[in-house]
Amino acid sequence: MTVALVGVGNLGKAVADSLLAASYRSEDVILIERAEKDRDYLAQRYGCRVEAEVPAGLQLGAGDVVVLTVKPQDAQGACEGLRPIISPDVVVLSCMAGVPCHRLQALLGTQKIIRAMPNLGAAFQESASAVFIPEGLSVEEIGHVSAIINSCGKAWRVEREELIDVATAVAGSGPAYLCWLAEQLENVAIESGFSRHDAHALVLQTFKGAVSVLEGSDETFTTLRQRVTSPNGTTAAALSVLEERVAAEHVRDAVRAALRRARELQSV
Ligand SMILES: NC(=O)c1ccc[n+]([C@@H]2O[C@H](COP(=O)([O-])OP(=O)(O)OC[C@H]3O[C@@H](n4cnc5c(N)ncnc54)[C@H](OP(=O)(O)O)[C@@H]3O)[C@@H](O)[C@H]2O)c1
Repeated sequence: MTVALVGVGNLGKAVADSLLAASYRSEDVILIERAEKDRDYLAQRYGCRVEAEVPAGLQLGAGDVVVLTVKPQDAQGACEGLRPIISPDVVVLSCMAGVPCHRLQALLGTQKIIRAMPNLGAAFQESASAVFIPEGLSVEEIGHVSAIINSCGKAWRVEREELIDVATAVAGSGPAYLCWLAEQLENVAIESGFSRHDAHALVLQTFKGAVSVLEGSDETFTTLRQRVTSPNGTTAAALSVLEERVAAEHVRDAVRAALRRARELQSV
């Protein structure tokens, strides 16, 4: 089984990391990356065949999967390069935000498109991914693509394609939201006397501890927050400022903005 990964930037590298960690053999993975400066690095890091563009004679068939990890704006160019080698048996897994199956089907001349939205956790097999599988694919084809998605971390199958946009806004962009919050915590720790190094480690361990508590119990986000918030305590003081400034609604608005942008990308 060959996996051809087209566009090996941030997400493409994370997916390549997952594949090789999940015991895909490097000789079965082809990396196609147009950025010349990255190709030597990719060959060294992964030991895979690395190409600047889709090789004209590349023969793909049953069991083979093409994974698209280019920016939505590059979808058309990437699909034009791929179209000549997409035989009826090849399945295409698109990890692009916003580009719907029907557009990819038209660009690639095949119905066999699956969409997924992983996130950067894939680099450590910790992605929270959503996957949409339209009708018409065989159990084996779904199995081949599911193995790729599952190698990235945990995945949830969604029954409606629009939910991929929701997963984009929540989980695809999610690491950036958490990093933004971490930056704010880190800044206060530094301005109040912690070294940059210790402030970073303190915030990181706080995130890890909160995740461990949540994973190790049945608590919801709300109940853990309430449990940490003693009346008149320090957490209550911070949360009252956040609530006063309507932060929760602002955060939800920000995520809704990401969702709107994911939907707009359909017409790019
Ligand atoms: N980054 C994330 O956390 C994340 C999470 C979920 C989903 N995604 C999705 O993943 C996709 C890629 O995002 P990214 O952040 O990884 O972008 P990126 O870092 O820019 O990587 C894309 C790479 O693809 C290359 N490329 C573009 N067209 C190509 C072609 N026709 N053939 C070969 N290589 C080509 C680009 O080269 P140039 O540098 O020359 O343009 C770039 O190196 C997007 O569609 C995004 O929606 C990203």
